[in-house]
Amino acid sequence: MKSDRFEPARIRELGERAGALLSSAPDLDALEEARVRLLGRKGEITELLRSIGQLDPVDRPVIGNLINEIKDKLNKLLEERRAVLSAGLYDEEPYPGDPTLPGRGSWAGGLHVLHRVVDDIKQILYGMGYSLAEGPDVELDYYNFEALNFPPDHPSRDLQDTFYINRDILLRTQTSPVQVRYMEKHTPPLKILAPGRVYRNESPDPSHAAEFLQIEGLYVDSDVSLADLKNDVTHFVHEFFGSDARVRFRPHFFPFTEPSAEVDMSCFSCKGQGCAVCGKTGWLEIMGAGMVHPHVFRYAGYDPDSYTGFAFGMGVDRIAMLKHGIDDIRRFLANDLRFLRQFWMESRAEVYE
Ligand code: DAH
Repeated sequence: MKSDRFEPARIRELGERAGALLSSAPDLDALEEARVRLLGRKGEITELLRSIGQLDPVDRPVIGNLINEIKDKLNKLLEERRAVLSAGLYDEEPYPGDPTLPGRGSWAGGLHVLHRVVDDIKQILYGMGYSLAEGPDVELDYYNFEALNFPPDHPSRDLQDTFYINRDILLRTQTSPVQVRYMEKHTPPLKILAPGRVYRNESPDPSHAAEFLQIEGLYVDSDVSLADLKNDVTHFVHEFFGSDARVRFRPHFFPFTEPSAEVDMSCFSCKGQGCAVCGKTGWLEIMGAGMVHPHVFRYAGYDPDSYTGFAFGMGVDRIAMLKHGIDDIRRFLANDLRFLRQFWMESRAEVYE
């Protein structure tokens, strides 16, 4: 007698169902459960194989082979699934989106516009023989004022009110103290640039912030003249703003230089005709400069009869605003990516430099 359940088609069907059950088991417990149900001592496949004796002896080898083949396959599937589940390689949920869409790309960020402007200015000055010097943001009153020839209680200090830690320690109001710090440790000839953050007790408005960036320049040797200062400043302005820019020196006062000047360049927007950018004057102020005062040399330990030098100091924020047509200094500190992203066009290689 040949019962229905020994029909080869039904056996194969059972094999397929069993295979699907094993390979879709969601975890090791479910897999073990399926194994017991199919291949355990009382499992469906085991039972089927055991009851083969009911078959006509002629049919036994063929059907027996078929069941054994299926059993081998199922055992293999079982082992494979066990390996996958024990390694924690669970099937992932199907991806809910459209996998053929292009990727979003990585988001590398970029340098802050002020960082770029400082780098550009540094590169130009390096090319002119300046090397890098640095000083602390938290500075002694001595270096920020006294050694730069601001006497105690002198009204010239009022122009640079700052944040005092105590009577002797403050946040530097300018990068000029780096001049004295550097001269104390080096003998001329020297030619340095000193970039850095400076602080002033200002009420913020479109052209004033309580912290901003400056770059200081200092050149000392036995015969440095005002002509050398004009030459370097003019060369710098031509490199940075373009060779059609004109430069003028306007007499001014700084305690640490004599003579002192404020340096203007012709307005790049109207080429000197007068417009809204330059307040109709045709000129834009870009830095302070002058010949190093003999008192400053004395404070630094130099003999003022042996050396002469020039110095200049520029506000990086202001220069960046002029160069990029930025209307409010506070944008630099606002950390608004819509603003900052505009300046990220340059290549990646440069960003990671
Ligand atoms: N330290 C000055 C300021 O913050 C700028 C300056 C003027 C720097 C003249 C100099 C200089 O080195 O010679 O206003």
